[in-house]
Amino acid sequence: MSANTTPTGPRAGTAAELPQGPVAPSDTPVPAALSAIPAAPVTGEPEVPRYAPQWLQLREPADAAARAHDLLDPLRIRLANRPGRPTGLVVHDLGCGTGSMGRWLAPLLDGAQQWVLHDRDPYLLHFATVGAPRAAADGSRVSVTTQRGDIGRLTPDALAGASLVTASALLDVLTTDEIDTLAAACVGAGVPALLTLSVVGRVELTPAHPLDREIGEAFNAHQRRGELLGPDAVDAACEAFGRLGASVRVRPSPWQLGPRQAALTEEWLRGWVGAAVEQRPDLVARADTYLRVRLAACAAGELRVVVHHSDVLALPRPTGETS
Ligand SMILES: C[S@@+](CC[C@H](N)C(=O)[O-])C[C@H]1O[C@@H](n2cnc3c(N)ncnc32)[C@H](O)[C@@H]1O
Repeated sequence: MSANTTPTGPRAGTAAELPQGPVAPSDTPVPAALSAIPAAPVTGEPEVPRYAPQWLQLREPADAAARAHDLLDPLRIRLANRPGRPTGLVVHDLGCGTGSMGRWLAPLLDGAQQWVLHDRDPYLLHFATVGAPRAAADGSRVSVTTQRGDIGRLTPDALAGASLVTASALLDVLTTDEIDTLAAACVGAGVPALLTLSVVGRVELTPAHPLDREIGEAFNAHQRRGELLGPDAVDAACEAFGRLGASVRVRPSPWQLGPRQAALTEEWLRGWVGAAVEQRPDLVARADTYLRVRLAACAAGELRVVVHHSDVLALPRPTGETS
């Protein structure tokens, strides 16, 4: 799953490891699957899913290991040559969750950085602020502010003065309209975008099992529910940025899960299979047996999983450049 849409949130129990912050609402349901089934709606917005901070925390090391480092050099070159070379970087992290992208990227870039953390969930914004990175690669100061709001309404004006837009595990939970809006805002403001860890709909489990494919297809269909793009998000983003004249590079960023990532693999499996069954209730009996077999192999250190993702670097022309 992207691990993005589907897992929604680990069961209670890992909360003690979380940074200090507000306590999850006591009526937060604990889903059988981590999946995308919202842990609870965002306050005041009953239709909006909430991502469990425990899940985001559990996946953070695998995310950090997976992101494509070879997109960083072209990004650094672009940032070094930005018009006017203002003193520090202003980085907008869209759908920041608990702030994992900033903790990964800020220490990989030189110079003072002002991060603007965007999310519609104020609970996650709190965690992102508490756990914000403090120092850049060269020791320069990193500071953060937060902006609660809907990425689907982003405008070029909101990105005025920005040096970079980032996102992680976001594109596949958006719709075509939301990705078009995001691309138009970045290109309109002439701001590069590093959009990491979008699922591409491919998962490899070793050893193989006859039901792998059917579960995977049902999971992908679940990710495409409603108008969500799921595994089509990377193509949609490339098309949206390309249409607006940006140059776009895509690199693989797979999760490589083995015995050392057993806790994450277990939650991922529950979410992956849970979403597949939600999509295809007729699978329930076979999927139940499948999940038990897979969890046992995971506990025994005998299961390896590759969850394929892609990272996208989009470089629009800086504003003011005409050709
Ligand atoms: C899968 S989580 C990823 C969080 C974080 N980037 C990470 O990698 O850990 C997706 C995040 O995007 C936020 N989100 C999804 N759609 C959004 C929208 N339309 N506007 C604002 N935030 C959104 C969710 O609240 C959630 O925090």
